[in-house]
Amino acid sequence: MVFGKKVISFLASGRGSNFKAVAERVLDGSIKARLGILVVDRQDAKALDTAKQFGMESCFIDPKKYPDRRAHEEEMVRILRKHRTELVVAAGYMRILTPFFIKEFRNRIINIHPALLPSFPGVHAQQQAFEYGVKLTGCTTHFVDEGTDTGPIIMQAVVPVKDDDTLDTLSARILREEHRILPESVNLFCTGRLKVRGRKVIVLG
Ligand code: GRF
Repeated sequence: MVFGKKVISFLASGRGSNFKAVAERVLDGSIKARLGILVVDRQDAKALDTAKQFGMESCFIDPKKYPDRRAHEEEMVRILRKHRTELVVAAGYMRILTPFFIKEFRNRIINIHPALLPSFPGVHAQQQAFEYGVKLTGCTTHFVDEGTDTGPIIMQAVVPVKDDDTLDTLSARILREEHRILPESVNLFCTGRLKVRGRKVIVLG
């Protein structure tokens, strides 16, 4: 079956290694999609350099320039639409998206979270898991809904916690899995194989 190539845009706030992992696979053709635009909320986001290296469009939309979150997101939606975005990948985007934004892209926003949801939602997930003393943690991709890291789960990868782990070694091991399951989840979306039924995401084929 032949699929039209979907346009993927990205939201990021910092380093952008997850953005890079997905964009690389679009550029090498192993994810059949087109790159839209990278939108960041911080001028110093390293992800901007990566986008430049890839010759990809990017923009900084400064939240401080808008009276409220809604106005900031209206501008984001305008830019994303201008680029004909069909999938939004939240790749280390540190702001909670409001219901307005989520409605615009219902079941078309994929987030990567560095823990096995529903455990340890929110920020510093690796640290929360490390300090709790779990033996297994990992990462989760999910569609974004109105809650914090509560949307339907697409993929999860398990990462064991070793006795001699530090927060850094554990986070690095989780990140390697993030760079595997996020592109894989995006690929499943782009090939039309993800169906959302209530809380469950069915992977076709
Ligand atoms: C990742 O650990 C991701 O799971 C979390 O924020 C971090 C972003 O890292 N949401 P990067 O910017 O993709 O390198």
